[in-house]
Amino acid sequence: MSQNNRSEQSSGHIGGRQYTFASRMADTPKSFIREILKVTERPEIISFAGGLPNPALIDVEGIRSAADTVLRLDGRSALQYSTTEGYLPLRQFIADRYKKRLGLSVSPDEILITNGSQQCLDLIGKILIDTGDHIALERPGYLGAIQAFSLYRPVFHPITLLDDGPDLSMLKSACTSYPIRLFYGIPNSQNPSGITYSAQRRRELGSLLAKTDTLFVEDDAYGELNFSGQSLPSLWQYLPSQTIITGSFSKILAPGMRLGWVVAPTDVMDQLVIAKQASDLHSNYLSQRIAYEYLRQNTIDAHIKKIQDAYRHQSEVMIQVIKDTFPETVGYTRPGGGMFIWVTLPDGCSSMDVFEHALREKVAVLPGTPFYVDGGGTNTLRLNFSNATDENITAGITRLATVIRRLSAEQTR
Ligand SMILES: Cc1ncc(COP(=O)(O)O)c(C=O)c1O
Repeated sequence: MSQNNRSEQSSGHIGGRQYTFASRMADTPKSFIREILKVTERPEIISFAGGLPNPALIDVEGIRSAADTVLRLDGRSALQYSTTEGYLPLRQFIADRYKKRLGLSVSPDEILITNGSQQCLDLIGKILIDTGDHIALERPGYLGAIQAFSLYRPVFHPITLLDDGPDLSMLKSACTSYPIRLFYGIPNSQNPSGITYSAQRRRELGSLLAKTDTLFVEDDAYGELNFSGQSLPSLWQYLPSQTIITGSFSKILAPGMRLGWVVAPTDVMDQLVIAKQASDLHSNYLSQRIAYEYLRQNTIDAHIKKIQDAYRHQSEVMIQVIKDTFPETVGYTRPGGGMFIWVTLPDGCSSMDVFEHALREKVAVLPGTPFYVDGGGTNTLRLNFSNATDENITAGITRLATVIRRLSAEQTR
């Protein structure tokens, strides 16, 4: 169980006077990744620290053509205010894709278009979390969710992520001891670990949560980036009235379009729509229209296949160099999709030290500690493979291996 320090208040100076900010700001961590990226995005640095999709796989020409069609044929309407729920044909497209990909029957009325899937997390926090409410999430957990939920000041219950999904005895014990409002998880190619829940773990999770009042928030940002092209069932299949799914066009179209969506049972949806209205009235309508036109003009399956193939290749290159160069005492995940590999250094080897020494060798990695709401993870690292060339992966991982070998040797001396 973990609660952020609530005694402090954030303060700052505005025009020479001291102001205090709302106390929820003191509970909300700055995005460590954004801070690190300021240092690591210098051109001479090989960075595995960020989480950017590969820019070479953004179909700029296709999006330009879709934008041109929308603006030429329906510009005035596409540039007007629109509905909070989002462009109906786009919601219908998403519903149809759930049917095709996962066999799920979801109605467009159960889908709300959001400003990236990150906004879903804020809206879910707004409608479901009061100060002191208990929520569970994976350990390690997605930093963006930790940040979004922290604004609503919950008590976090981190649930250890095993190789095939969350530790269900730990989740059961949390649900038995506390009124857990929601469990937030990423069953497909989790950020940061790259772990995918097995089919069995999904079924067991479904039957465990069915006996509780806990909602499952299924973040499916990486569901389409599955290297095998084979999808495992969504928890919605087992818990249709208890699951909220969040999805994103960021990894399959372009993150700059800022388009995501949330799928939720009708009663939850009504609340989400109210919260969204209060936040921003509606998501960027022009962007929604362009995305839909792009999806109409192009075969998205072929585009997604290209991304899957490229990321599979990049991950294989990274794994091979890791195998060839890292000491055997270092553990690492072999993701079946997504954009990340999770590295566990030998006990006592600090990833913060590795970060600092690697940076001197012009390689950036992301230390794992911010992904742990209860501390820990000091010997873990996240490596992003989607945004690096084969040459940079080989050179960067080889340099990283040298740093890890040196630091582990110093530590055992
Ligand atoms: C697990 C997960 N969820 C949500 C997001 C937010 O993505 P977006 O707001 O671009 O849809 C990300 C971004 O990397 C992510 O990794």
